[in-house]
Amino acid sequence: MIVVSGIQPTGRFHWGNYFGAIKQYVELQDQADAAYYFIANLHALTTVRDAKVLRQNTIDAAIDLLALGINPDRATLFVQSDVPEVSQLCWLLMTRTPLGLLERCHAYKDKRAKGLPADAGLFTYPVLMAADILAYDADTVPVGEDQVQHIEVCRDLASSFNYLYGEVFVMPKAKIMEQAARVPGTDGEKMSKSYNNTIGIFDDPKAVRKTIMRIVTDSRPVDQPKDPETDHLFQLYSLFVGEKEREEMAARYRRGGFGYGEVKQALADVAEKFFAEAREYRKELEAKPQFVREVLGDGAAMARKRAAEVLQRAQSACGIKY
Ligand code: TYM
Repeated sequence: MIVVSGIQPTGRFHWGNYFGAIKQYVELQDQADAAYYFIANLHALTTVRDAKVLRQNTIDAAIDLLALGINPDRATLFVQSDVPEVSQLCWLLMTRTPLGLLERCHAYKDKRAKGLPADAGLFTYPVLMAADILAYDADTVPVGEDQVQHIEVCRDLASSFNYLYGEVFVMPKAKIMEQAARVPGTDGEKMSKSYNNTIGIFDDPKAVRKTIMRIVTDSRPVDQPKDPETDHLFQLYSLFVGEKEREEMAARYRRGGFGYGEVKQALADVAEKFFAEAREYRKELEAKPQFVREVLGDGAAMARKRAAEVLQRAQSACGIKY
């Protein structure tokens, strides 16, 4: 199994990023023959327009990923733009990309629907993502549900290229964590920076508690039974606890006689404990910027080696090498 996944350095990571993606990265690094994880700064260029901010976000993202358990001895951690082969591969794929396919992709479609100006970078974003995946011969792509459409595009482009030029690319598949495919935010919608409903992994625990207390709930009185399955607060709590605690909380919901405030306090407690170790490790890493840079440098060298082979294969197949 060869695993690849990317995450945008558009700001600090939130619970959706962790449970939907990063948790899987950590689990898969021990199972895979090779695991490639990268900070998608080229993708982030479509939204982060301040160079200083992008640079800082990129380093912060690397520190966050290491603190959360990416182990550079088991996984290749790097920055997307440090592997220029991907951008070259992207062009080859672009020549096999029907416009209609990109017009249906949600990032671009949503922006247009809101009447916001979109650039070619945003429009062709899924093609770069396809190159990210195909460049490493990856077969497994751990992501949240919102990325599934993009991986379908990647599969379409790979088949189309293979159909024309022969078996060049490995066909990848999305890997979704069922309970965390779409982590809800404080308003019950998908947790996302663009909805302003995120809870940060490394935010100060006091601030996190405050945000949790603001999670929107219905106004059912304390004594009334509640349905845990349809409640996003319960869904968030479930991400942090084992089966036993989950069942206990579900039983309390069904019995009634408690307020959502109690669940929120319980959620803040488990979340604080859950990320405590990573928070400590993060502080250590922050004091070792040289180590972080070395990890990214080594990662880029490893990733380039693999990507160069795949690029060569694709270039030869389509007649670019003469
Ligand atoms: P990005 O940066 O938006 O998100 C990173 C990862 O976090 C997941 N995620 C969620 N999962 C569950 N619930 C949520 N509320 C939630 N919010 C975010 C995302 O699904 C994603 O897995 N296009 C990608 C980055 C990318 C990439 C790639 C991914 C670039 N190239 C190649 C895989 C393979 C993105 O914008 O993710």
